[in-house]
Amino acid sequence: MFALNFNKTTMHIFKEKEALMDHLKSIKTPDSTIGFVPTMGALHQGHLSLMQQSLAENENTVVSVFVNPTQFNNPEDLSKYPRTLEADITKISELNTEIILYAPSVEDVYEGKILSQEFDFDGLENQMEGKFRPGHFNGVGTIVKRLFEIVNPTNAYFGEKDFQQLQIVKKMVKKNNMTVNVQGCAIYRESNGLAMSSRNERLSEQQKMDGALIYKTLNGAKEKFKTNSAKSVTEWVEKVFEKNTSFELEYFQIADETTLLPCLRKNKTKKYRAFIAVIVNNIRLIDTISLN
Ligand code: PAF
Repeated sequence: MFALNFNKTTMHIFKEKEALMDHLKSIKTPDSTIGFVPTMGALHQGHLSLMQQSLAENENTVVSVFVNPTQFNNPEDLSKYPRTLEADITKISELNTEIILYAPSVEDVYEGKILSQEFDFDGLENQMEGKFRPGHFNGVGTIVKRLFEIVNPTNAYFGEKDFQQLQIVKKMVKKNNMTVNVQGCAIYRESNGLAMSSRNERLSEQQKMDGALIYKTLNGAKEKFKTNSAKSVTEWVEKVFEKNTSFELEYFQIADETTLLPCLRKNKTKKYRAFIAVIVNNIRLIDTISLN
């Protein structure tokens, strides 16, 4: 462990889980809470807002920065995923507070066996991202469970951009009788509506500008869903992307917010969400919007 002192920030940085666990044991009191923000780095304002929420609600906050190999089904996506630890440390330091950072190696987390555990998330894993990224949610479940075991947080904060991941983490916690309270936090957007994502670092300025189409289309879908079926809204979205040659639509789905099953017939008692994944220049971007 080493401590970095910035203006008003003291950052305790850990590369090894044993040292982190010892430190957390030494500072935890019966009444104090630990907030946890797991990330894969390339931090942006969305991540920082999760940290701010954790800092406001807990005595201690732990942030992890770890690009988890088992959740990447595409080796190119893994190798190109931005790794910017120094810049991440600078961004965290701008929060002007005391914070704990866990930035482990693959070895520290996986101890020589880079393998996913097999999970049953009651079918949540078979929809959308699960269909297009085989094995992805077993990798997410594996790393989040492992990080929860290391940090033992009271509260954990996840962005709603990855809404399917959020539901899966909640399910994993419930099925494993873990005590952590998992909180979903609002999506942070660029001024043109593009959802903030670490992957945006790989987009050109033009692609970032064109990315406004994703949120614009989601808002259009929300409006149309008031008076149209999920099927006709989906067809409309498909047409929007057929006309646009720079973005390839991977999927658009209107689904029940809890079960994530596609909406075949609207039911007034249910909450629905639209989910979208598009590909631009081999970079996958996802977004979501609540519909009612
Ligand atoms: O959302 C992410 O950044 C990752 O999936 C997570 C939750 C940090 C697990 O690697």
